[in-house]
Amino acid sequence: MLRRIEFRGVPYVDREKEEKFLLHKLYNEEPTGLLFIYGPKSSGKTTFIEYIVEEKLKKEQRFYVNYVNFRRYAIVNYDSFLNIYFKPITEDTKGMLAKIKDTLKVVVSGLKGEVSIPEKGISYMVSFDLYKALQEKNVDPFDLMYDVMERLREKGKIPVLIIDEVQELRDIYMNGEVRQRYLLTEFFKFLVGLTKETHLAHVIICTSSSIFIDEIYNHSNLAKTSEFYLFDHLNRETTRQWLLEEKFREKEVELIWEYLGGCPFDLQRLLSSRRAYGEEFDLKEYLVGQAEEARGKIKLFAIDELDEEEDGKFTSILKEMVKKGYVENRKDKLFNCVVKKAVNRDILFLLAHKDKVVFNSQIMRKGAELYLKNSL
Ligand SMILES: Nc1ncnc2c1ncn2[C@@H]1O[C@H](COP(=O)(O)OP(=O)(O)O)[C@@H](O)[C@H]1O
Ligand SMILES: [Mg+2]
Repeated sequence: MLRRIEFRGVPYVDREKEEKFLLHKLYNEEPTGLLFIYGPKSSGKTTFIEYIVEEKLKKEQRFYVNYVNFRRYAIVNYDSFLNIYFKPITEDTKGMLAKIKDTLKVVVSGLKGEVSIPEKGISYMVSFDLYKALQEKNVDPFDLMYDVMERLREKGKIPVLIIDEVQELRDIYMNGEVRQRYLLTEFFKFLVGLTKETHLAHVIICTSSSIFIDEIYNHSNLAKTSEFYLFDHLNRETTRQWLLEEKFREKEVELIWEYLGGCPFDLQRLLSSRRAYGEEFDLKEYLVGQAEEARGKIKLFAIDELDEEEDGKFTSILKEMVKKGYVENRKDKLFNCVVKKAVNRDILFLLAHKDKVVFNSQIMRKGAELYLKNSL
């Protein structure tokens, strides 16, 4: 039986296997490392994690959840990162503070201060002195967060840090130092400390960037202390059941699977388009239109980003992929360069643990078919 519920007013289907996996970890295991949840764009990672936070974790007194989606902020420098996690207690924010139950006393770098942690929202409210010290870099934000986690544990809470689209922090420096350090490197060090070394908090990191995952998986010490969980599109049977419940006929379901696969975003779009057009809705026309759109994206990508040699390589990669559905990852400079670019445009997706390259979604495969036909 397909699980189909409403979440935020739209259908939310399945994901029971993923839910079981994650909740088992959080409910029964001590944190021992970072958990990376990765998968193609629009497979439903953010929706899943927000569902877990709102419908499960926030209802459990023992957890203290801090969820940040870095896509929702423009992170241009270290200060913008600080401002996400910390806000000063000022006249303006005092009203907000009155509603916060949890206030913790902390001591960092010899500085005593107060940190108030709201149940909703993500920023810790810190006393003005602490905030100034953070800005002036007399207090390390990660030392402060670490102290907060320890205080929370003392109060019997299990902190859960969830970070969505963490790769947005790439290329940001911790500034003001003689020797520049990467913010992300420091952040990861802190997160490893929280999990593997002290078991203070659960850390879950979501990302759609398979290049980023590949780098971590293959090249860094982080790989040893991390688990990688693939969060893929819906499978065929789940998709079929969902579509049958939406009153499509078997033949139509087959056609939809051929074009859209189990990409939840593409399926939701199909449903809303059918609602909008009502009787006038023509399934085949819609699907072909989607494939045309995907072809356009691929073409634009090739024009924008590839030189002649790369373009030739790209075409040969696509040919193989359209036939087989994937290509083996290769240690070839030109191949890697083209794949990397196409992955960054969400056309392809790199399966780090299988060393395979696949399409980001089924509609891209259909788009690639059209693209190859037209370029003959
Ligand atoms: N389990 C699901 N059931 C139905 N629709 C879903 C489901 N998960 C995601 N979606 C739809 O797909 C869209 C994209 O999902 P999102 O969580 O943003 O993907 P990701 O974070 O992996 O890129 C959502 O806006 C939602 O409409
Ligand atoms: Mg997302």
